[in-house]
Amino acid sequence: MIARKWWIVMLATGVLSSGIAYATDFGRQSYLLNCAGCHGPDGTGSDANEVPTLHRIPGQFVKVPRGRAFLSQVPGIVYSSLTNAEVAEILNWILIHYSSDVLSADFKPYTVSEVARYRGVHPVSIPKIRAQVLSDLAAQGISIDYGAR
Ligand code: HEC
Repeated sequence: MIARKWWIVMLATGVLSSGIAYATDFGRQSYLLNCAGCHGPDGTGSDANEVPTLHRIPGQFVKVPRGRAFLSQVPGIVYSSLTNAEVAEILNWILIHYSSDVLSADFKPYTVSEVARYRGVHPVSIPKIRAQVLSDLAAQGISIDYGAR
């Protein structure tokens, strides 16, 4: 009887601790499951497959409104079955982990309702929107180097 009770305690604490680990590292887990297949486990993308890096450039994009919206409108997000909460978690995780050296001090993490709003818009041409974002950034004196990963 005592032995059986201990098993229950051990099982309960095991489930609880893995639940906590999952919750605190949710953005990373979700990135690895949904984005790393193309953007790589370290987020550096792939020249060979023309997948852009997720380091630093997204951290610059969020500095202009069109760029902030664009991050929720890329194909890997618009056409995914991820919830808006999951997308917000992943984008915030990417920005904080891969763009920490360029993020503004006043960076505000994405909220779920903000992602919902942006995601409702499916851009016809990604290169066109990206070019607009790059010119918005250039107007603020920020230049983007796609050669660097
Ligand atoms: C099937 C492969 C694939 C998956 C999965 C994928 N992406 Fe992408 N992603 C791409 C490609 C290819 C581009 C470039 C699109 C273009 O230029 O038309 C891109 C572009 C982007 C960009 C724009 C970067 C820039 O500098 O313009 C962001 C941000 C992004 N993806 C984030 C994500 C996130 C977050 C996920 C996971 C939820 C994800 N992607 C999943 C292939 C993928």
